[in-house]
Amino acid sequence: MSTPVLGAKRLVGIIGDGPWRAPAFESLAAAVAAAITDGRLPVGARLPSERELAAVIGLSRTTTGRAYAQLREQEYILTRRGSGSIVQLPTVPGGRIDHLLSPAGADDTEIDLTCTAPVAAPDILGAYDRALSRLGAYLPGTGYYPSGLPVLREIIADRYTRRGAPTDPDQILITSGAFGGAAIAVRALLNVEPDEAARLGGARSTSRVLVESPTYPNAIATLEGAGAALVTYPLEFGPQGHHWDTDAMDQLMGQMRPRSAYLIPDFHNPTGALMGEAQRRDLANALRRHRVVPVFDESLVELGLEGGRMPSPMSALIPDSVTVGSVSKIYWGGLRIGWMRIPRHRVDHFASSRLGLDLGAPVLEQLVTVELMDSHDAVVADTRSRLRSARDLLAAQVRSWVPDWKLIVPSGGMALWAELPEARSAALSIAARNHGLRLVAGPNFAPAGGLDRWMRLPYTVPEPELEQVGPRLAAAWEEAKAMTGRGPTRRARIVA
Ligand SMILES: Cc1ncc(COP(=O)(O)O)c(C=O)c1O
Repeated sequence: MSTPVLGAKRLVGIIGDGPWRAPAFESLAAAVAAAITDGRLPVGARLPSERELAAVIGLSRTTTGRAYAQLREQEYILTRRGSGSIVQLPTVPGGRIDHLLSPAGADDTEIDLTCTAPVAAPDILGAYDRALSRLGAYLPGTGYYPSGLPVLREIIADRYTRRGAPTDPDQILITSGAFGGAAIAVRALLNVEPDEAARLGGARSTSRVLVESPTYPNAIATLEGAGAALVTYPLEFGPQGHHWDTDAMDQLMGQMRPRSAYLIPDFHNPTGALMGEAQRRDLANALRRHRVVPVFDESLVELGLEGGRMPSPMSALIPDSVTVGSVSKIYWGGLRIGWMRIPRHRVDHFASSRLGLDLGAPVLEQLVTVELMDSHDAVVADTRSRLRSARDLLAAQVRSWVPDWKLIVPSGGMALWAELPEARSAALSIAARNHGLRLVAGPNFAPAGGLDRWMRLPYTVPEPELEQVGPRLAAAWEEAKAMTGRGPTRRARIVA
């Protein structure tokens, strides 16, 4: 393998030239480590020699030597006589992906297209540093914040207000990701308060929840786990891609009288569809008329890749609605910070439901989120531009290697949702393992079965990996077509 060589000037261009906080060797090592973890310094690159770097960066040779020694000790570089210091990522005990998300374990030669989640945003280590310096102020307290840190709740409330849904910080609960918020919402809504049950009347099943098909697999698992009976609305599909027919949803609600709904109107996972303004208003009217309390999952709302104005948030159109959101798709899923926006009259009920599940999100990660929100617009712009180019690259791979698959490139989100010429998505996901590719088959996204003709293809892995997806997909597809059985079409347990 040839090793890209990085000149000292280039390295300084990437990590900056100080000023270095004392001890300088530690801050220099930290700057290099930060650039490696956020991908600005590619794995495999060869760093300049200690002497060359010292001359360009204006530090002593001893300082650069100690910085390299620290990086070596932390496994960020591997130094071999004759071949210099090569950038690498430190090993993580047990790997970088949890066995619950990837039961067969991680394999470095495989391309993992099972998750719609990006790597950490640049500057996350800097944000941790700044947050640590604020943490001291919180240590004399107990650290339990079941509602969330007031400073973060204020920022989130203000963001809703600026989007057109006036929100008081008291309406915000900070949760363990959007998923944690959805679990609290489901639990609270299915556990109806007695006076509300009386108002709803006996004819309504309080366990029915309207969901789209396809939908986010973990939502299916959470809803079913909470005892919900799913009322499935199949998204329409036409030449423009997937969309919502609000008349059909209206009729379905009239017939089935669900208590609640879990919907993803903003760059829906897995289709990437975005609900238009007029449909939002029609849907809000229908939900209100049928007295359905919806939960809107806005996890992907900031992932519009084509610019343009976003339609109104559903919380601005339907006051008795719950919204969940998070920073997982913009900053990092590892922060596990999300939130819910709750109608005022439901706050107490939701807060007590939350206390039955956990006692709050970690203080440090909330502070890190506050720090990152300072440069939110720049972080979002960076994520969008990375995703846009990754989306186009993956779409080009699919079109040239499996040209008989149908693809409508979505205007946002993190995945393509491809239609196969035959219902063999489950077989394809099995065959793919023989070709170094991990996929999640369409049936995983089906609340009521089916969808074996569809395959989700996330474009969140690095571009050098995406460039290898086409040939692997084509080989796996040939194998899947030759398989006699179609493979199990049951759902996997958890899919991110
Ligand atoms: C629609 C949707 N909701 C929730 C989540 C989970 O997000 P979080 O990490 O904020 O819990 C995801 C992640 O893929 C998602 O796509």
